[in-house]
Amino acid sequence: MSKMLVIGCGGVASVAIQKCCQNHETFTELCIASRTVSKCDALKAKLEGQGTPVKITTATVNADDVEDIKRVITAFQPDLVLNVALPYQDLTIMDACLACGVDYVDTANYEPENTDDPAWRAAYEKRCKEEGFTAYFDYSWQWAYAKRFEEAGLTAILGSGFDPGVTSVFTAYALKHYFDEIHTIDILDCNGGDHGYPFATNFNPEINLREVSANGSYWENGHWVETKPMEIKREYDFPQVGKKDMYLLHHEEIESLAKNVPGVRRIRFFMTFGQSYLTHMKCLENVGMLSTSPINFEGHEIVPIQFLKALLPDPASLGPRTVGKTNIGCIFQGVKDGKERTIYIYNVCDHQACYRELGSQAISYTTGVPAMIGAALVANGTWRKPGVFNLEQMDPDPFMEMLNRYGLPWVVDEAPATVE
Ligand SMILES: NC(=O)c1ccc[n+]([C@@H]2O[C@H](COP(=O)([O-])OP(=O)(O)OC[C@H]3O[C@@H](n4cnc5c(N)ncnc54)[C@H](OP(=O)(O)O)[C@@H]3O)[C@@H](O)[C@H]2O)c1
Repeated sequence: MSKMLVIGCGGVASVAIQKCCQNHETFTELCIASRTVSKCDALKAKLEGQGTPVKITTATVNADDVEDIKRVITAFQPDLVLNVALPYQDLTIMDACLACGVDYVDTANYEPENTDDPAWRAAYEKRCKEEGFTAYFDYSWQWAYAKRFEEAGLTAILGSGFDPGVTSVFTAYALKHYFDEIHTIDILDCNGGDHGYPFATNFNPEINLREVSANGSYWENGHWVETKPMEIKREYDFPQVGKKDMYLLHHEEIESLAKNVPGVRRIRFFMTFGQSYLTHMKCLENVGMLSTSPINFEGHEIVPIQFLKALLPDPASLGPRTVGKTNIGCIFQGVKDGKERTIYIYNVCDHQACYRELGSQAISYTTGVPAMIGAALVANGTWRKPGVFNLEQMDPDPFMEMLNRYGLPWVVDEAPATVE
């Protein structure tokens, strides 16, 4: 019996909200608040048309503005806030949650919109030097809220998507049921889907292209090893998808898993990309279209990557055209009762099946379902405890059970192929 404010109404939010309506024992009232309220109204109309028992309201919010978020929270009085806007808004939404005394859940760690901001740059450069990785996003900003959430008796759950999120829960589950110690983790994110466009991104283009065009990195023997973008390539034969090229990327869960998995020696993250995607991205990068620094164009200030976003297909529109499957999971190597062991836990998700169920492709689906589950476990008290947490710090069993129930069944393979 919970009231939840959902901030953002894009691809991921649409799935998370529809899944909240399937879980109406937990979520009795929802307020959908976003920048473009017409999208919230359209989703509300769709769900009401289907006869949802959940009471839904909508609101306009500028989630860059703490006061405006507080206004919406004060009017609606939710028990918790699910942030499925952009990583740029994580800190303002956490500030508003603290000020209003409500719990917080998100799917991606903080990243600044303006990477030229001198105050942020100074902190960033210090972190690059101290930690040894150069990604624009890291957990330090949100972990710094731990004491304040603890003192306020509030829960903040960070990264309740698929990766991070389900991959973090898979790790906690492997540690709880299969290993005494995990030595290596390879996270493999394969999208075998085809949308038929020469180039499009599966989620917010700005966030996606920033992530993919950055340096890669992995964790080994207590420190970060950085690589050039796309420098490390492997091929893997994914169950139900087939052989794909995959590339090593920096990814946010490496940072929290390195801290939270005792004795781990190496953590890597690989994502599959087709050659056409990589060629387009390199070309766009070479001509400056991935830049986040504003330029003056005929008297107007424009940010190249935001202009590119306006040209590319809206990720939410890819659903009807995308065929094929995703396979995302983790290969763990370690020891149990003194014996070496390797297991692979993964989920396979079919783009067209997602579209038939909710009108979304599998990338939004695989993120929106765990966003709902993380929020539900806080809402029903199972995961409620004061502080700021990553998902691997929580009991994985109720989350794993809900993955099976809400459309993301998983498999444990006890004799998988490993990645060299
Ligand atoms: N962990 C994972 O596995 C995973 C995977 C994919 C994505 N994600 C994360 O999921 C989140 C949502 O992604 P998405 O693909 O759904 O993105 P999206 O389709 O671009 O949706 C973002 C939504 O946030 C709204 N928004 C943006 N800025 C806002 C502001 N200042 N105030 C109020 N609302 C604002 C947008 O409003 P408009 O409609 O007006 O644009 C839009 O409705 C992102 O943080 C992304 O990084 C996580």
